[in-house]
Amino acid sequence: MAWIYKILFRLRQLLWAFAFGAITLVGIGAIQTDVLAVDLGPGATAPVRPFALNQVQLGHGLLQEKRDRVKSFLRLYDERKFLVLFNNQAGRANPKGVTPPGGWEDGGLLSGHWTGHFMTALSQAYADQSEQVFKTKLDWMIAELAACQNMITARFNGSGGSGAASWIPTFPGYLGALPEDTVLRLGPPRWAVYGSDPNTNTWAPWYTQHKIIRGLLDAYYNTNSSQALSVATKMADWAYLALTIGDKNHPKYTGNLTRDDLNYMWDLYIGGEYGGANEVFPEIYQITGDRRHLETAKAFDNRESLFGGAVNNQDILVVTKDKIPGRRRPARLHANQHVPQFIGYLRVYEHGGDQEYFTAAKNFYDWVVPHRRFATGGVGGSYPGTDTNGELFQNRDNIANAMAGTGAETCTTYNTLKLARNLFLHDHNATYMDSYERGLFNQITGSRADTASTSDPQLTYFQPLTPGAPRDFGNTGTCCGGTGMESHTKYQETVYLRSADGSTLWINLYIPSTLSWAEKGIVVKQETTFPRGDTAKFTITGQGPLDIKLRVPAWVRKGFKVAINGQAQSSIVAQPGTYLTLSRTWETGDVIEVNMPFSIRIERAIDRPDTQVIMWGPVLLQIVGKTSSTNDGFFGLSLYRYLKRDGDYSRVAIKRTGTSAADDPTFQTADIGLTVRPYYIGDSQAVSSYFRRIEPTVVFGTINTGVPNGKRNKGLPSYDVPVSGIPSPGTDGPTFLDLIWDQAPFATHKAFVEVVTSTADTFVAAGVYSAKERDTIIAKASQAEQELASD
Ligand SMILES: *[C@@H]1O[C@H](CO)[C@@H](O)[C@H](O)[C@H]1NC(C)=O
Ligand SMILES: *[C@@H]1O[C@H](CO)[C@@H](O)[C@H](O)[C@H]1NC(C)=O
Ligand SMILES: *[C@@H]1O[C@H](CO)[C@@H](O)[C@H](O)[C@H]1NC(C)=O
Ligand SMILES: *[C@@H]1O[C@H](CO)[C@@H](O)[C@H](O)[C@H]1NC(C)=O
Ligand SMILES: [Zn+2]
Repeated sequence: MAWIYKILFRLRQLLWAFAFGAITLVGIGAIQTDVLAVDLGPGATAPVRPFALNQVQLGHGLLQEKRDRVKSFLRLYDERKFLVLFNNQAGRANPKGVTPPGGWEDGGLLSGHWTGHFMTALSQAYADQSEQVFKTKLDWMIAELAACQNMITARFNGSGGSGAASWIPTFPGYLGALPEDTVLRLGPPRWAVYGSDPNTNTWAPWYTQHKIIRGLLDAYYNTNSSQALSVATKMADWAYLALTIGDKNHPKYTGNLTRDDLNYMWDLYIGGEYGGANEVFPEIYQITGDRRHLETAKAFDNRESLFGGAVNNQDILVVTKDKIPGRRRPARLHANQHVPQFIGYLRVYEHGGDQEYFTAAKNFYDWVVPHRRFATGGVGGSYPGTDTNGELFQNRDNIANAMAGTGAETCTTYNTLKLARNLFLHDHNATYMDSYERGLFNQITGSRADTASTSDPQLTYFQPLTPGAPRDFGNTGTCCGGTGMESHTKYQETVYLRSADGSTLWINLYIPSTLSWAEKGIVVKQETTFPRGDTAKFTITGQGPLDIKLRVPAWVRKGFKVAINGQAQSSIVAQPGTYLTLSRTWETGDVIEVNMPFSIRIERAIDRPDTQVIMWGPVLLQIVGKTSSTNDGFFGLSLYRYLKRDGDYSRVAIKRTGTSAADDPTFQTADIGLTVRPYYIGDSQAVSSYFRRIEPTVVFGTINTGVPNGKRNKGLPSYDVPVSGIPSPGTDGPTFLDLIWDQAPFATHKAFVEVVTSTADTFVAAGVYSAKERDTIIAKASQAEQELASD
């Protein structure tokens, strides 16, 4: 039913859009049946666009297992809990014995956000397999919320209700689990700040408004609920008035909000956090054609302290206290307060067209990735000498010294992936998808415990980077519990993308799934066990010319082979970190097979290369257990002595030992005999993502030269803002052996000795080695031919 549904649905959209002059048709006739489609949501006007969520179905595998656990929770969790607080504000009765979810969803100042997340998750769960239970729950919630909105608006011209519902709204259309005042007081004349006093403080009120509107819009997109759109549009009408006229019934009101007032609001730590509120209003503008909603989105521009810096590419995420740009922002910005703002700027760009919004988003993303991102895909952390708030941005390039304490907030990864995906729709650089894949198969999959629960979402908040720390699961009512329900019900959203003209299909991720591309009459079925396995098979049903772009992941080291109908495509150059293109007139039954052998790779922290992780294809391998060794709690590993000329760590150094009962690969390190396993496994064992590389002397296999393994500290980054007690740039630069083995594989022993010789020469020139040490190293390297032979 999904296909016809989509076309009808979109036709209706088009008529709407025409009626309001919201769109102009470009290139009509140049494209096939897709001519009449109007795309909604992220990338609606971009050169590359997503498919609707119901056009892709997830197949069996790791992601489906994770998804199904969350779906079980969504199926059985009592949705009436989400209405209790809304009913209180609306003056509607609640069924006896039903309580709010709890956590931050307990009547405190962030209440209401989970209702939005739950609606998004239900609509995504429904899009996937059209299971009626999700739509039934969702439709009920929407109808109840609509009734609440009407009851509150009905008080606008009259007198108040009683009890919690005694307040009178300033404008029609407000909907929330808290009084309207908790939103209005953020602005003038009161300028409420973050805190817990229900009468004077506020806590990210626009964040909650965003989540509710997002949930409603997702219900509209994924389940065609016109009531959801109607409630969302009324909320948006209210938002426009709240952000232009403002708190007009306050005795000290002095007039409409100014740009300056808005800037002052958004710079407030946590109180001014608005999530991605600016993403929903341009979408509502697209659907309704009402330009006021685009203006509302722009009201969220964080113009005083961040927008301009992002347009001009001045990284000011962390500044010293004497250089704070703006009246109110803290020295160190809160990661998840700011990442989603840039998703909103992209939406303003998509519907308003101002280039600076795109530029700001692109530059901002580059400050975060790779400069502040851990190998897990996480952002945040704690820092010596500053505070212990793990939700704040690291100093630029501070990876190795940001691992103490709590770890990386899962929400920030959710939003960073959203930003990467949306940027890719405009700037088709494979690096965004490499990052997306890293975050998805590590921090996102790793955020769900591998246990069933229908009363608790079993999701992470922080994911620790501290060596030997376990992950905690739970998070009813928190931000990460909310975004987590969403993450695990939209795994299929980025597997495929298409060019706006329908001539190109982008295959970004290797995930078992079926794409039903109705407009083209093409179905693509992808069979793979990725990331447990490293091959994928695509079977085409349908006929016609199409460019298929296949992502060649940046981590590919052992080749990326493509066969079509059994014929190896040997003329194709598969450059890691790019897409390769298969241009062809496809026929039903055509089969594309991809073989991309995983390798074990070592990745080093940019600021401290001896602080490393083990990667297996896209997956980070964590070390199980805890150590009492003296390396600041990190496991110390010596691995170079196990390498042969091919430099392949999987040969001996970190060897696959088998497959677990859950089908996951297991590995062991040769040194110390540690068990190593994929990050995505969701249990509460003590695990370490990073370890310390301990390589005291220059060794070639078992031949030890006795010469210290010297370091070159050249090229290490300096933190933009000093980290107390930590030298910057550091003194743990890449070692002699690092620089040698970075050039593996070596075709011949002669080539190996040449690299050893030239590297040793540079170490002599830099004063790290004496001529005698150089000679010893080269002599031993020459003797190591048998030792290093790899065949
Ligand atoms: C979508 O909703 C509209 C308005 O409620 C309705 O007219 C239409 O039939 C619906 N389409 C589908 C496929 O359910
Ligand atoms: C309030 O009353 C005015 C004047 O009667 C009317 O125009 C308006 O529609 C009413 N607003 C609402 C939200 O009922
Ligand atoms: C205040 O904002 C409203 C838009 O909500 C606008 O219609 C009105 O003209 C503004 N008033 C002043 C004095 O600028
Ligand atoms: C893709 O992005 C990376 C990282 O920002 C950059 O180094 C590279 O030049 C970009 N490639 C293209 C083709 O723009
Ligand atoms: Zn969070």
